[in-house]
This record gives sequence, structure tokens and C-alpha cells, in this order.
Amino acid sequence: MISLVKPYIAPSNEMMPAIEEVLYSGYIATGQAVYDFEDVFRNYIGNPLSLSLHSGTDALHIALILAGVKPGDEVISTPMTAEPTNTSIAMVGGKVVWGDINPNNGLLDPKSVRSLITERTKVIMLVHYAGMVCDMDEFNKISAEYNIPIIEDAAHALGSKYNGKMVGCNSPYTIFSLQAIKHLTTVDGGFLSLKNEEEMGRALKLRWFGLDKTRSRLENDITEVGFKYAMNNVNATIGLVQMKHINEVVGRYIENGKFYDKALVGINGVR
Ligand SMILES: Cc1ncc(COP(=O)(O)O)c(C=O)c1O
Repeated sequence: MISLVKPYIAPSNEMMPAIEEVLYSGYIATGQAVYDFEDVFRNYIGNPLSLSLHSGTDALHIALILAGVKPGDEVISTPMTAEPTNTSIAMVGGKVVWGDINPNNGLLDPKSVRSLITERTKVIMLVHYAGMVCDMDEFNKISAEYNIPIIEDAAHALGSKYNGKMVGCNSPYTIFSLQAIKHLTTVDGGFLSLKNEEEMGRALKLRWFGLDKTRSRLENDITEVGFKYAMNNVNATIGLVQMKHINEVVGRYIENGKFYDKALVGINGVR
């Protein structure tokens, strides 16, 4: 059997001691390993306003809440994706409006998106399918013209760049997945990258029941109901070891892509 997607896991002499240490450390919930992993991840994509979550789906959910999507609001999205891109829209009561994709690359077509905008459009949801980045110049124009925020679903695009800039630094909301078959896996995990410090504060509360983790319980008052979406120290420890290999892993994906580009040239019916 040829596996289409095989998880990259760092060598066992690096991974296993780290996992053993955290498992028996007495602290496996959200703690220092998570904060260390967040620092490494933030440095890698170059956006300090990034927070870890238990999954990419959690990140989508929080992004949609921050963007203010309420029942009945429209979100223009793409069918060329995994289910969570669109089920998360339904989670906040939003209505998915299907954009057309460009048949040459499978990415959402800006012309189609423009034609679907109504007064109910609250968000444009982009998916950088298989690591290929959408036409951000056009989408940024549309976003500015209609004052509609973009959520970039970059579940497949950790390490992708557009015009030399890392994905995760451009739009008000970018989500990443660290699920089993993504470039960098922590078994399960996710990140949300933001552009606004106030929204960062709100997102941090939303990932932990609505509580401010920097204050004691007596000083806390839940004013907005949150979720249990935080990453734990075990996944974060795996992430810390995995991140040491991120350039090598992304490089491998690029090399594999080039291999297929070359090997499939001239085959009848393949474009
Ligand atoms: C395009 C896309 N968006 C979102 C997700 C959700 O990520 P997760 O599985 O980490 O919740 C995935 C992964 O399954 C995905 O492929």
C-alpha cells in the first residue's frame, strides 16, 4: 500500500524522552510547554498575536465569533476543503454561500466571491488548499472595498508565503491545524493568528470557558461564555520537538510537489 499522507514524527531519540518527561512531570494540562510552543510558533510565522488551541476547528469557531458572525449572516466559502471549514460556519448559525473555484488551481475565485456579496455578507472564508495561497491581492481589495473581514483557513498552509510574507500575518484571522496529517502535527492541535490585541484578549478567554487565566477565580467574572479549547502540555511538547524540523518538513513537501510536476508531464489527460 502506498500511503498518500504519512505523518511526520521527529526521530524517536528526540521525541520519546521529551514525551516521557512531560508525562511524568506532574503537569500535563495547559502550562509552560504550551507557552513555550506558542513562542516558537509565533516566531516561525512572525505574528506575536497567535494562540494555540486544541484543534483547527476550534480556531475556526473562535475566528467566526470574533468576526461577529450571527445566525442568518452569510459567509462566502469554498466547497474545495475539509468539512470543518463549513461546519464551523453552521456552528455559529451562519449561512454558507458557495463561491466558485478556479478550475486551474482549486482555489476560491475572487470574481465569483465579488458577485456573491450582499448586505448580509459578514465574512469571506478562504482556504489555501494543499498549501497553495489564494489570490490575496484581489481578496484584500474586495475586503477593503466592502469592509468584510477575511478568515484564512491555512490548515494546509503552515509555512506557505504570499509575496514573500508568511501566511498568518496578513488577515484579521488565520487558522492553522496541527491534526494528524498536517505538515506539522502535534497529534491534534491548532492555532489562531490575529491582527488586533483586543481580539487576542477576547480569544484567550474564549479558549478557557470565558475566564481570564491570568487572574484568580475570585477576580474573574465570566461575561462571555467560552469553551474548553486549550492545548495541553503533552501536545505542546510534541509540537516543540516537531518544530525543530519544520523547515526540513516543509522543504520535503515542496520537493515532493516538484517531483510530481516533473513525473506527470506529458501524460495523456493529465494537466
Ligand atoms: C482545510 C481544513 N480546515 C480545517 C481543518 C480542521 O482542523 P482540525 O482537524 O485540526 O480541527 C482541516 C483539517 O482537518 C482542514 O483540512
